[in-house]
Amino acid sequence: MIPGDGIGPEVIAEGVKVLEAAGEIENFEFEWVDYPFGSEHYLKTGELIPEDSLREIKNTDAIYLGALGDPRVKPGILEQGVLLKLRFHFDQYVNLRPVKLLPNLPEGLCPLKNKKPQDIDFIVVRENTEDFYVGIGGKAAEGSTHEILEIHKDLYEVKFNLDIETDADEIAYQLGVVSKKGCERVIRYAFDTAVENNLEWVASVDKANVLTHIYGFWRKSFNDVSRSYPGIKTENLFVDACAMFFVRSPERFDVVVTPNMFGDILTDIGAEIQGGMGTAPSGNINPGGISMFEPIHGSAPDIKGKGIANPIATIWAGAMLLNEIGEKNASDRVMKALEEVLKEGKAKTPDFGGNSKTRDVGDAVAGKIKT
Ligand code: NAD
Ligand code: IPM
Ligand code: MN
Repeated sequence: MIPGDGIGPEVIAEGVKVLEAAGEIENFEFEWVDYPFGSEHYLKTGELIPEDSLREIKNTDAIYLGALGDPRVKPGILEQGVLLKLRFHFDQYVNLRPVKLLPNLPEGLCPLKNKKPQDIDFIVVRENTEDFYVGIGGKAAEGSTHEILEIHKDLYEVKFNLDIETDADEIAYQLGVVSKKGCERVIRYAFDTAVENNLEWVASVDKANVLTHIYGFWRKSFNDVSRSYPGIKTENLFVDACAMFFVRSPERFDVVVTPNMFGDILTDIGAEIQGGMGTAPSGNINPGGISMFEPIHGSAPDIKGKGIANPIATIWAGAMLLNEIGEKNASDRVMKALEEVLKEGKAKTPDFGGNSKTRDVGDAVAGKIKT
């Protein structure tokens, strides 16, 4: 476990409690290794995540992570240095993000009018190791030009009407990169997910009308892979229209496969339509390697230390973890207990309109499992 920053440790504690309860009933035990990586550790030692730990983690079954990010540390240091480092190091190329309105959520929590659990139930398969997340970019140092601008000198000067010699220190750039291997493997995962779950339709997201190089390539990969799945209906959506459909008619989706950055943004919309950031789980999956499970939300500095964060997203991510490591019965028990606790409607954190603590929700779910 890597509890991390902000509310990370608060929600992970409840997740661990619930998973252990499920293990107890199913007769297995967890051996947790508690890693301190995150802001406190970084501020104290200057260390993000050392190679030794990565080697050690390679021998575990899975990673359970809270959140990274702290207002005291420049944005990007912890997020890239710990979270993205793990996703890339373990080649977790799928970010699996179910968007599902659970039954019996408090009245009015779903912001969409007249939508029922059967209307909001689809799976986002987000590419997780490429696109604008590859970390290639820079700023031209003062008084110098950068190689990348030299290559695209004509375009730069004509399009922006700038003189590369004098204005080039005023820019910053970041490159998005996708590869045939990278696109095809995650797109195949999306189609396989549809087949395994008896779903009919895979929608692909891009912006091939503007970012023609990168997302034209993505679209072609999608269309190529789709030919191996003749039984599945397909659709190419531009990301802006896709965002609209998430809100207007989520019932149209079965599986949505998306490049990394669009997937990040769309799944915050997904989280909101399923009841809020406190409810949305995710799995960073390497189908043949070490996978990592975490809530979609971040470290929520605004509610840190108050003990009121909703642990449902993290508990649900824990159920996904159990499923991935082959403990399907335990996973089902967690989800069933969660649904029963929602039905009772007693343990509700403030985002659910109640005044329960994070701990109360964890206790309620763990208690249900045990009884
Ligand atoms: P955030 O997801 O942390 O918070 C957004 C809003 O949702 C806040 O108002 C917060 O209080 C609320 N919220 C989030 N989780 C909640 C929960 N479990 N229960 C109740 N309310 C909850 O996004 P942000 O504020 O943009 O980012 C804060 C920090 O987290 C930043 O440093 C950011 O980089 C980082 N971040 C990390 C991850 C991750 O570790 N996977 C994801 C997103 C953001
Ligand atoms: C998420 C987060 C991360 C992402 C950040 C913190 C690197 O927003 O998991 O959704 O962009 O993937
Ligand atoms: Mn995000």
